[in-house]
This record gives sequence, structure tokens and C-alpha cells, in this order.
Amino acid sequence: MSSNRELYYSAREAYQSYSVAEEYERVRFSGILGRYRFVREFRAVTSLIDMLPKGITIADCPCGTGRWWPILARRAQRIIALDISRGMLRYASEQAEKIDIDVEVYEGDAECLPLPNGSVDYTFSHALTKHLPIPVQYGVLAEFARIARSGVICSFSVFSHLTYEFWRRRHLKESYPVFFEELEWMAAGANLKIRTMRKCTTPIGVEHTVLFDKLD
Ligand SMILES: C[S@@+](CC[C@H](N)C(=O)[O-])C[C@H]1O[C@@H](n2cnc3c(N)ncnc32)[C@H](O)[C@@H]1O
Repeated sequence: MSSNRELYYSAREAYQSYSVAEEYERVRFSGILGRYRFVREFRAVTSLIDMLPKGITIADCPCGTGRWWPILARRAQRIIALDISRGMLRYASEQAEKIDIDVEVYEGDAECLPLPNGSVDYTFSHALTKHLPIPVQYGVLAEFARIARSGVICSFSVFSHLTYEFWRRRHLKESYPVFFEELEWMAAGANLKIRTMRKCTTPIGVEHTVLFDKLD
């Protein structure tokens, strides 16, 4: 695929070290707000994963620490996990050895995945696109769709008119939400259709997890 590699985003490098992987879940999910976010995203992702058929192959990109694998294993017989960070991959590989789930772990760039067309049933991606400039989001969703035969579950930051106001006032750096209409254009460009989506953060947040079906 053609990529927008000239567009900078810090998430390509920010997670490279092993120590970032070791601290990742503690930093994000401790405290009352962290635990609340954890429960919200856990429920949202689980409800979409449970809509998939059993016995499938799922690509998890980026896999990070591998924290979603027990949920993916509710439907996946095989998980192919990819991430650009060697630190995350080392940590995730150690986790894979401790659990009874069939996971293969590879280094891979979501902008240009090292997998053939239609080589998995579904691609799963959580907490990546929110870090990506919008043209890169188009390319990455198309890449997730390219490797998947049936569909994609991917988180996106999606505004409503209310959450747009909260987001605007926060002046966040490298934060790239889209309006729902743009998500539909992105899906159409990737040969996907949105089946359903769930909010997976606080009521004033923008993060959603979205289930897309492949159009042919
Ligand atoms: C916020 S973490 C999310 C990890 C995991 N999906 C989760 O939900 O915990 C972002 C991850 O994206 C990875 N990443 C950033 N850019 C990437 C790219 N172009 N291709 C693959 N992984 C990338 C980082 O290395 C990091 O592991």
C-alpha cells in the first residue's frame, strides 16, 4: 500500500523500551479513573469480540503487552500479534509463554504489515489510531482490512458535538479524533462497512471501539 511515512507521530518511538512495557498497565489503569477506564474498555471490547465466530485467526496490531489476548482467545484459535516496539514485543513474548493461548509474535509496522492479503479472519487493534495523523489513519485501516478476510475491530477517537467541546478545551497534543462521517469515509476507502461501535471511555471522552465488516 502507499504509506504516509513522512507524517510524524511520536507513538512510533515512544513505546520502544522494555521498561515502558513493564510499566504500561500500571501507569494507565491505577487509581479510580484508571480502573473505571479499564472496566469501560474491557466491556466494550469484549462485547464486540463476542460477536465474532469461534475458531478464527485474529491479528492483534499493535499488541503492546498482549493484554487483550485472553479476550481474543474467547473467539480465536490462533492469534498473530504484531507491534513496532521491540520492548513491547519482548515483554509480550514473555507473557505468551505464561498463558495457554496459541500466539505468534512478530515485529510489524501497521502502515505496512508483513502479512499477505486475507491471511487472517479479523484484525484487532486497540489504542493505536488515536495517536495517528488522520491521513495515516486512512492508510492503517486499509492495511488492517487488506490482511483480513471478514472484518476489523479497531478503536477510533470519534467526536460528538458535546465531546468535541471538551476535547477542544483540553488542547491535547497529537490527538486526532474524527467525526462519524469521516469514519464512514475511511471505512468505505478500506472496503469496509461499520456494523456497530461502543464507547470505551468516560462519557466526555471520545474513544470508541468499532466493528467493521469487509464488503467483499
Ligand atoms: C497505546 S499502546 C496500545 C497497545 C495495545 N493495543 C493496548 O491496547 O494496550 C500503542 C502501541 O502502538 C505501537 N505502535 C505505534 N506505532 C505503530 C506502528 N506504526 N505499527 C505498529 N505498532 C505501532 C506502540 O509500540 C505501542 O505498543
